Amino acid sequence: MSLPEQKAVPADAGGHCIAIDTLPRDGRPAGVRCSSVDELRLLISREQIDARIAEMGRQITADSGGAPVVFVGVLKGAAVFLSDLVRRVNLDATFDFIGVASYGNPRGPKQEKVWDSTGEVRLTKDVEHSLRDKNVILVEDILDTGLTLAFLKRLLLGHQPKSFRVAVLLDKPSRRKLAVEADYVGFTIPDEFVVGYGLDYAERYRNLPEVYVLPGVLPAE
Ligand code: IMP
Repeated sequence: MSLPEQKAVPADAGGHCIAIDTLPRDGRPAGVRCSSVDELRLLISREQIDARIAEMGRQITADSGGAPVVFVGVLKGAAVFLSDLVRRVNLDATFDFIGVASYGNPRGPKQEKVWDSTGEVRLTKDVEHSLRDKNVILVEDILDTGLTLAFLKRLLLGHQPKSFRVAVLLDKPSRRKLAVEADYVGFTIPDEFVVGYGLDYAERYRNLPEVYVLPGVLPAE
């Protein structure tokens, strides 16, 4: 799905703010929370995410032909997406999680934000149950260079599943280094660093209900 034009995010005199309509009114205008550190730009709204995930759930349900499915979420970024997606499929579904580390925490002072893409991917947590003869759907937050997905695909195909599909919320095709693609893509986005809805920058912002661009983050390449 392509994205509509980006919306400006309101800011108050106190600094940088993001619009979130579920926050308590603690003296500030309702629906606005301020961040003292970074300025975020709204990229994908909660409504757009909900609508798209409902479509993806319908598509996965139709494609699965009534067969049971095991969703395998990639920690930690895909946890939020997986929890919404599995509630939108009408199937006999179970889920499991796998953990990988591929990027270090950002280095340097705030104004020189970088994230480290060394190309190295390692397993930090394996799945708990055998995937042999199962219909597996790997659930990732974002497909970027493709290094993580290529690593996980090789690993999970080694379990000899009956079928293997990949669902990603976001796809940044312009950054691809390896020829891997997802079967289900929520949104194709430009080459910008995004946070929220499970995605982090140095472990922050995962709890934001929408997807935001965090300006000024550069890949360390
Ligand atoms: P890949 O291995 O380069 O495809 O990257 C996949 C992983 O990189 C994702 O699961 C994220 O953890 C991280 N990543 C890539 N781009 C972003 C981004 O824009 N925001 C937050 N994390 C990202």
